[in-house]
Amino acid sequence: MNAKLAVVSDQFLDASQPQPEDAFEVSLRPKTLQDFVGQRRVKEQIGLILDGAKARGASADHLLLSGPPGLGKTSLAHIVASEMNAALRVTSGPALERPGDLAAILSNIEDGDVLFLDEIHRIPRAVEEILYPAMEDFVLDIVVGKGPAAKAFRLPLPPFTLIGATTRTGLLTGPLRDRFGFATRMEFYEDEELATIITRSADLLGVPITPEAAKLVASRSRGTPRIANRLLKRVRDWAEVRGDGTVDKASALAAMTLFDVDARGLDRLDRQVLERLCSDYSGGPVGLSTIAVAVGEQPDTIEDVVEPFLIQQGMLARTPRGRMATPSAWAHLGLTPPMQFSELTLLDEQE
Ligand SMILES: Nc1ncnc2c1ncn2[C@@H]1O[C@H](COP(=O)(O)OP(=O)(O)O)[C@@H](O)[C@H]1O
Ligand SMILES: [Mg+2]
Repeated sequence: MNAKLAVVSDQFLDASQPQPEDAFEVSLRPKTLQDFVGQRRVKEQIGLILDGAKARGASADHLLLSGPPGLGKTSLAHIVASEMNAALRVTSGPALERPGDLAAILSNIEDGDVLFLDEIHRIPRAVEEILYPAMEDFVLDIVVGKGPAAKAFRLPLPPFTLIGATTRTGLLTGPLRDRFGFATRMEFYEDEELATIITRSADLLGVPITPEAAKLVASRSRGTPRIANRLLKRVRDWAEVRGDGTVDKASALAAMTLFDVDARGLDRLDRQVLERLCSDYSGGPVGLSTIAVAVGEQPDTIEDVVEPFLIQQGMLARTPRGRMATPSAWAHLGLTPPMQFSELTLLDEQE
């Protein structure tokens, strides 16, 4: 009877990994700025930019959205296109291997189109160079042929809006960042916002859920709407298979326990990172790659997915010498920090 629950992979909480069941995300995706819960500042800023562009009958400025996976960057790109009544074209950094790949997309672009470039920090240098004049002057510089016979052409492009998304702004070159008219960093969501998202999603999925259960799931969603929606599916499974179909607090709690999501929303990988850090390295400082090897994950996953949340929760600190577990990480794991650590903290406090 547990087949449905058992097939769920361990990584279902890793918001950076696309998963087969993500098709359901499309149905839950907010369609308008109004539907888009939270991120009030970002919404207001983008709303103003779009209204200004609409009033001038022009295409909107290029927008750069950054932040951890699952916070709504792709959703916002869809919303911008639909608010501008524009077609959305979608590509991503890893898909653009050669300059020709981007040139092919740009030469098909139409007036006012929105081009969404996901994982923009992963475009190769040569592709980036095509992007500069395209963004700045709406021209496409192409070189045909090689060596002395090579010829350069400059093709005009219709005005379009580029929306770049990245999990790490720090990896973007200065010149690329400078070519965006607006750049914003999306922050983790508040629990109340996540509860609203969960209630809305439950409604769309036809899952009865009590407000207490929505609150409980929200508080364990790592500040991330994508995870909130995934957890909702798990608690729905639990309620349908083992309960009476309604997601109440007890069934939500039972499902969270089954799937190793703890009271602060940490999943198994989050805890592994902290545990290795505390048990094997006395709390650090330890380099990122050492941590990655210790838990058997890619450094990128640790940096993009695990760390931002642990830092936001005040359990992990990035120092010049490496990552360190904070006293609240030790407390959360139920471990006692080594002597020397508490002495250090005391020393710090005296200064
Ligand atoms: N502000 C929001 N309000 C409601 N749902 C959201 C919001 N942001 C994200 N979601 C939900 O989370 C899912 C993942 O969002 P997505 O835009 O794909 O994140 P990102 O591109 O930043 O990884 C969406 O399908 C949507 O269901
Ligand atoms: Mg996305």
